[in-house]
Amino acid sequence: MEEKVIEEIKQGTSLVQDQKDGNQKKLFIESYGCQMNFSDSEIVASILSEQGYNTTQNLEEADLVLVNTCSIRDKAEQTVRKRLQEYNAIKKINPTMKVGVLGCMAERLKEKFLDEEKIVDMVVGPDAYKDIPNLLKEVEEGRDAINVILSKEETYGDISPVRLSSNGVSAFVSITRGCDNMCTFCVVPFTRGRERSREPESIIEEIQDLHNRGFKEVTLLGQNVDSYLWYGGGLKKDFEKASEMQKATAVDFAQLLDRCATQFPKMRFRFSTSNPQDMHLEVIEVMAKHHNICKYIHLPVQSGSTRILKEMNRQHTREEYMTLVDNIYRIIPDISLSQDMIAGFPTETEEDHQDTLSLMEHAKYDFGFMFAYSERPGTLAARKMEDDIPEAVKKRRLNEIIDLQQKMALERTKRFVGQTVEVLIEKDSKRSDLHWSGRNSQNTVVVFPKENYKPGDFVNVKITDCTTATLIGEAVGYSEIMN
Ligand code: SAH
Ligand code: F3S
Repeated sequence: MEEKVIEEIKQGTSLVQDQKDGNQKKLFIESYGCQMNFSDSEIVASILSEQGYNTTQNLEEADLVLVNTCSIRDKAEQTVRKRLQEYNAIKKINPTMKVGVLGCMAERLKEKFLDEEKIVDMVVGPDAYKDIPNLLKEVEEGRDAINVILSKEETYGDISPVRLSSNGVSAFVSITRGCDNMCTFCVVPFTRGRERSREPESIIEEIQDLHNRGFKEVTLLGQNVDSYLWYGGGLKKDFEKASEMQKATAVDFAQLLDRCATQFPKMRFRFSTSNPQDMHLEVIEVMAKHHNICKYIHLPVQSGSTRILKEMNRQHTREEYMTLVDNIYRIIPDISLSQDMIAGFPTETEEDHQDTLSLMEHAKYDFGFMFAYSERPGTLAARKMEDDIPEAVKKRRLNEIIDLQQKMALERTKRFVGQTVEVLIEKDSKRSDLHWSGRNSQNTVVVFPKENYKPGDFVNVKITDCTTATLIGEAVGYSEIMN
């Protein structure tokens, strides 16, 4: 999901790179996959900055190369394997360079990585990043180093992340780790472990620090943010066993969001991802109440067929999802929604596929992230169901889904033409350095002539034209509410 966003940040023009004076060693760290991986790499860079490493963008000069990996689809893993070959070529020129694999592929493949990919010196799962200093010692002593233990408590709440390749305007802050949902197609519960929530105070502290450094937008991250629940205990699933005191002082996602928006009125808040089963009306009402909570919800559905949703172990029907969407539009009429969709899940019929298309028409998504089903070893679907939809059929259905999404996106984007929207300026426009690029509250990209504005300004922009995914306009002044 959202790989594109990360790519855009990497290409941002005004890069902020936290560096510590006196650090001699060089770390090259690269992230694939979701926003959470990107955010985790910032935690790893912070841990390593205490060990004498500053980051570099230049692979050739690196003492340590770390790749934060994604296992979500087979293609994601293949991309990483190709990248490892490229590191290998550089290691031949620079034999003292060490290579470590982090994240979901490390967790999924464990020791196999050290056997299969001879160039890998270190394998670290998503809950073991604090062990990296010890693992590096093992590597220095010539031993293979591996820690893939999943934790029930680790949230890295005590680590203040180094901001990597940041535009200095928007940042990710993770609030939950892991996932308890066990969707039958998904490898995440196996690679990232059980769901746990981070202490609210440490979240607020991190946001305060970003605020002090001039950041203007925070995206709260989790596999399933709406299920956030802090009660001073550990796992979400153990909440029932919490004391009366713990239950009385528990903080849920609606409360956390309300607190963030109230305490930082000049910052904008986004969040991702919302699982429909946990997206309650309280959250939507908090969104409606605060101008600075962006009017955008990423609401993955995966399929429009109740039968397929059941096979996927998603906890809602087609009708329940549609009711949720109707409620969201009723409470926040100008909201934007986006989906994740999987084409060709085992047993999917043409009728199921048509249900997906008709659900999309009902939901009127502004954006979508659409995938062909990729069987992942170890998941329930891989164990119990045959991957029986031919590749050509998956591809055709996926293309139909993408075509419909493109058509809807254009209609949705057009609704802003003639309106004035509030934009947070992030960076130069990709096409022209005479234009700024930012996003409106609904997450649509807006480009406009620079004039005297600068990144980090909230500006009102009158929209005159659009393409499928971009609004074009002219600034008419600063936003009074946000500046
Ligand atoms: N809750 C997570 C979901 C992570 S996976 C979040 O934060 O978004 C992102 C998306 O990848 C899923 O919503 C799903 O659409 C897709 N996906 C997951 N497993 C897949 C598989 N085996 N094949 C194809 N797509 C998959
Ligand atoms: Fe995966 Fe479903 Fe969790 S898609 S991340 S198991 S909500």
